[in-house]
Amino acid sequence: MVMVSISNVAVQNHMRRLGGSVWTLSCCSVGEQQSYFPKRGQTLELVCESLAFKGKGVCKVTETGFVVLCDRALPGERFIGRVTRKKGNYAEVTKVKTLSPPPDIVDAPCVYAPYCGGCKTQNLSYQAQLIAKEDQVRDLLLHVGRFSLQLLALINPILPCHTQFHYRNKMEFSFAPQRWFPLESLQDSHNLYHNQNYALGLHAPGFFDKILNVDNCLLQSHPANKVLAAIQECWRDPQFGLSPYNVRSHKGFLKHLMLRTGRDVTTGLPEVMVNFVTSSYKPELLKFLVDRVSPFPEVVSVLNNVNTSVGNTSVGEEEYTLYGKSSITETLRGLTFQISANSFFQTNTCQAEVLYKLIEDCAGVRGDGSEVVLDLFCGTGTIGLTLAKSVRHVYGYEVVPQAIRDARLNAKINGIQNATFVQGDLNKIDENFGKNFPKPDIVISDPNRPGMHMKLIKFLLNLKAPRIVYVSCNPATCARDLDFLCHGSPEQNIKGCYKLISLQPVDMFPHTPHIECVCLLELQ
Ligand SMILES: C[S@@+](CC[C@H](N)C(=O)[O-])C[C@H]1O[C@@H](n2cnc3c(N)ncnc32)[C@H](O)[C@@H]1O
Repeated sequence: MVMVSISNVAVQNHMRRLGGSVWTLSCCSVGEQQSYFPKRGQTLELVCESLAFKGKGVCKVTETGFVVLCDRALPGERFIGRVTRKKGNYAEVTKVKTLSPPPDIVDAPCVYAPYCGGCKTQNLSYQAQLIAKEDQVRDLLLHVGRFSLQLLALINPILPCHTQFHYRNKMEFSFAPQRWFPLESLQDSHNLYHNQNYALGLHAPGFFDKILNVDNCLLQSHPANKVLAAIQECWRDPQFGLSPYNVRSHKGFLKHLMLRTGRDVTTGLPEVMVNFVTSSYKPELLKFLVDRVSPFPEVVSVLNNVNTSVGNTSVGEEEYTLYGKSSITETLRGLTFQISANSFFQTNTCQAEVLYKLIEDCAGVRGDGSEVVLDLFCGTGTIGLTLAKSVRHVYGYEVVPQAIRDARLNAKINGIQNATFVQGDLNKIDENFGKNFPKPDIVISDPNRPGMHMKLIKFLLNLKAPRIVYVSCNPATCARDLDFLCHGSPEQNIKGCYKLISLQPVDMFPHTPHIECVCLLELQ
């Protein structure tokens, strides 16, 4: 499967578009090609041309045209960068000094923005962020998806997100025995970085063990910020004996703090779930934190996920309800959804309304109750359930057992009886997959970032459903999968049989590199 190389492919294609080469460069007399690769530690004068995969700036060395990648370089910015590593067949640099800022630069409202791994483009105007995302989709479709320039006309302008802050309904913060201080911050006396041990916050970009302490996050809801601030105020108090988990020594108690915000479906008021992920079950240690957060009127659920593994995941082997309910609710497209701690639910609720309306429009359900929908990677069943009222039956497949339980419950809560949800790994399907449901008229496929496994692509090419709505959160794997479905691949021994009818990029996550796309494919 091509999965492993997709990031390289995406990067290579950005480079090709810029006319740069990672290995050779015409920097000498005509006809004389000289192998060129900047040395590790070398400083270069660079211009950022565009944003690529994962939001890294694609930059050209001003004198030579050689192309490198730089985190946090913005389109139009001229800067000095230092080569940090050769990665496969390209180089990465870190920014040392900006020589001239990009034309679309704005003041980032968040104090953590220059260092935090969450928002990387807060200091780029929103309009410029949208253009960069749209360019990226077009580029990947052209080079990875092998669609012609003519077909690129099928890409609609990206749909902006009207709420650019406080849009996330879920955030996960990590505890650590030490705070990570960015080098720059040590040189100034910014009061954010007073030298205090123990961190609760977000990962430093690219590090699993370095945590930037965060008291407030401009992406999460206001009530969730109130809860975070309250916890930050007290969790270090020695009288409570709480210790942060150390991911290297595997000692310590508090691993993660997950905050989810939903809505009471009758009052419309926010509902917050506070989930403490710990390395062992010691409810007495959490008691004072529960007492601290439960008086907030928005807090309706306090949970403890116990995860004894050495991994960094927040999903517990066991879950305990310490206060209130074990789940929260949210409404989407007129339906009510129950969300538990570890189930997937679209993280930007407002924009999910826009996304789901688009999916409904692409699905083009006739509305006579005759059609069958296959909802692949169904999560808690949200997409399938929004279509269920106008079709004969929905079959949903998903790997997470709790999500399947939630999907079944969600069907029940909404009085939907024509939906069947099955737990299973879509990367491991065999020849029996497809025997338990009738041939679908519409397939919805909404995989996570790695996209669809070749087994599933082959299944879909054999199934030949009249239409596929492919919802993707990674334009690189999306372009790859569309290529397989539309053009086939001799190496994979598959023949494409779909035609791309439309592709709509949607900005679900302003200030981050993420891009969502809704693609409509019809059987040729
Ligand atoms: C992007 S989410 C989409 C969820 C849902 N369609 C929605 O809109 O809420 C992707 C879902 O795929 C599930 N998933 C990931 N890998 C899977 C696999 N190999 N087999 C089945 N489901 C998988 C995840 O648990 C997650 O719920």
